[in-house]
Amino acid sequence: MKFVLLLILGIIIIQFVNGVQILVLHGGATWSGLGVNPYTTPNYLGQTVHKEKCSVECEYTSDKTLFDSSDAVMIEAQAFANFGYAYLKQKPELPQKQVNQYYINFGYEHDGYFPIFSEPGFHNHIDVNATFQQNYSAVPVTFACNWGSYDKGGIEEFKTTPIIPTAHKIQHIGFMASNCHGGGAIYRTSYLKDMMKQIRIDAMGMCLHNFDLAPEDNEHHLFDDLGDSFRIKRKVLGKYMFSISFENNNKTDYVTEKVFTSLLSGSVPIYMGADNIDEWVPKGSIIKTSDFKSPTDLVNHLKYLISNHTAYEEYFQWKTEPFPEKFIEKHNKCLFYNGDCRICEYIHKRVTEYNNSAPAGHRLLFGEPENVKGQKRLIILPQDTSCLIILQNDTIPAISGYFTILMWLEPIELEFDSKLLSIGDDQVIISIHSEWSRDYIRYCWGTSGEQCFLSEIPIIPGQWKHIGIVAQPGDIPGTEVITFYTNGNFDSSYKTVAKPDIASTGVKLGCDTHGYRGKVDDLTIFNHALTQKEVNQAMFKKFRGDEPGLLHYLTFNDWEPIDYSKYRSKVEYRDIITSDTGNQKLDLNCC
Ligand SMILES: *[C@@H]1O[C@H](CO)[C@@H](O)[C@H](O)[C@H]1NC(C)=O
Ligand SMILES: *[C@@H]1O[C@H](CO)[C@@H](O)[C@H](O)[C@H]1NC(C)=O
Ligand SMILES: *[C@@H]1O[C@H](CO)[C@@H](O)[C@H](O)[C@H]1NC(C)=O
Ligand SMILES: *[C@@H]1O[C@H](CO)[C@@H](O)[C@H](O)[C@H]1NC(C)=O
Ligand SMILES: *[C@@H]1O[C@H](CO)[C@@H](O)[C@H](O)[C@H]1NC(C)=O
Ligand SMILES: *[C@@H]1O[C@H](CO)[C@@H](O)[C@H](O)[C@H]1NC(C)=O
Repeated sequence: MKFVLLLILGIIIIQFVNGVQILVLHGGATWSGLGVNPYTTPNYLGQTVHKEKCSVECEYTSDKTLFDSSDAVMIEAQAFANFGYAYLKQKPELPQKQVNQYYINFGYEHDGYFPIFSEPGFHNHIDVNATFQQNYSAVPVTFACNWGSYDKGGIEEFKTTPIIPTAHKIQHIGFMASNCHGGGAIYRTSYLKDMMKQIRIDAMGMCLHNFDLAPEDNEHHLFDDLGDSFRIKRKVLGKYMFSISFENNNKTDYVTEKVFTSLLSGSVPIYMGADNIDEWVPKGSIIKTSDFKSPTDLVNHLKYLISNHTAYEEYFQWKTEPFPEKFIEKHNKCLFYNGDCRICEYIHKRVTEYNNSAPAGHRLLFGEPENVKGQKRLIILPQDTSCLIILQNDTIPAISGYFTILMWLEPIELEFDSKLLSIGDDQVIISIHSEWSRDYIRYCWGTSGEQCFLSEIPIIPGQWKHIGIVAQPGDIPGTEVITFYTNGNFDSSYKTVAKPDIASTGVKLGCDTHGYRGKVDDLTIFNHALTQKEVNQAMFKKFRGDEPGLLHYLTFNDWEPIDYSKYRSKVEYRDIITSDTGNQKLDLNCC
């Protein structure tokens, strides 16, 4: 935070200028120019973008050591997940979100390429979308600008770029694409093949190649100088009456640069892709495959336009009219011009709102203190008799039958039955139970174990699992439903005929002749039931400590176990070790 003193008309105004720092966690956002001004990356963008000054100080970094001080962490699903389904096998690491820190899902690719993009288990941890999906994004971004085509941006260029007179244009269709198969492109390829049987299409890219570029347009490989490649594409397509602008998939709002390059070139785009493309381009400026029953019907229309230049020229009528509101709006959201600033402004708003609304006391009276929040530690219970006790305290609310217990655990080696955690005077016992040489979480209640339930997904020595045990009221008064969650996913659920008679705040971890041996992290106890989404989110976020019903919150990030809930219950322990840990993994496949 900086204090800036401004002297205006003799009045001293003290202005608080708060910067926003965004850590780009996976991959690089530089392809998009985020945080770079002026953005001059000819090899990719092909233009120099001088961005306007942002209303908040806005810093992007890829320095992961700044994780804890960053206001937001940006994850690009594309880089985060690797191509396709790789994230199911190579589970990505996800650090725990700090209090008042936000996770941004950034990207311009769809779930046909990157299935993680539509995974609820991924989105559970996301606070802000900055993607092509306009209605789902707090900060929507577009490619609706002259991306790569000119050295400076400007919406007027859509009208003012000269176009070759119809009579001098090549009387058929130009096409340039390199991807013939990926992300759904196989459908557009098949459609094109049908068209090519009936009309001439000059395919100058790698896909369906049948026509060579002139030598002066073919000096380098497409990706060697993408900016130049865009210029060539615009120039070459501009010679044709029509150009193919087929997205690789028909996803709502998935409108890439293709149709804009075509519009700028001065040929009429034949468009396949987003069902709502009309919201993205000037009215009457394109021909849509979806308006035709078949490739044949489309080709017949094109042949008609080739024979009737008056009808063809109607596709340029829009250049004489004001731009539609919606097109202007999309142009103003072009990622390359202001995406970074708009993301910062939005995060600044969220952080400020939170700062103004959150009750005081965080990090002083409760919550992880400043010197601990950056640490990543856990505890190890190395022996059967290792023991941690959160002391009973009659002045704080009791666990009275309905509750949620959350923790990460990684057993070292499992005994036949090892006691993991108990509430009160053993009224509730959670243990790890062996059955057919596999180990499961077992929940029992009643001092002599009247009722016991087993989780279905096994616990495996040497593997981190996040477990959640939720007890909530059943349909019949006085009964309850016990639900197990593993890695944030539903595991199994049981109905009880009564509810345990407990009214206690004391909790023991281990503390038995056959106690649990292994690692434990983030022990969190609420005295009410959390939803599955809340259990899932708890895996990768930190609590303030004063959330309603949060009774105990031990992150183990200090050298001594401390309860960071607002109750700050006293903790006693013996024979436990504090140790460093890495980030937990996002396991969308579950277990
Ligand atoms: C982000 O977008 C997805 C759809 O891709 C949506 O399901 C999710 O609710 C959005 N998240 C937020 C925080 O808006
Ligand atoms: C987006 O929201 C607007 C306003 O609610 C609505 O009119 C439009 O149909 C929505 N578009 C999509 C693609 O869902
Ligand atoms: C997209 O829509 C076109 C018709 O406009 C269709 O031929 C094509 O197969 C669709 N693509 C995909 C990936 O479904
Ligand atoms: C050519 O197109 C114009 C404008 O759409 C139309 O008025 C005219 O009838 C067409 N001529 C023929 C021969 O179809
Ligand atoms: C929000 O509060 C935190 C902690 O007090 C402070 O560091 C940060 O600068 C504040 N940010 C804004 C935008 O008010
Ligand atoms: C019980 O909890 C209260 C409130 O957190 C605290 O002030 C008090 O010291 C605790 N008493 C014991 C015996 O731990």
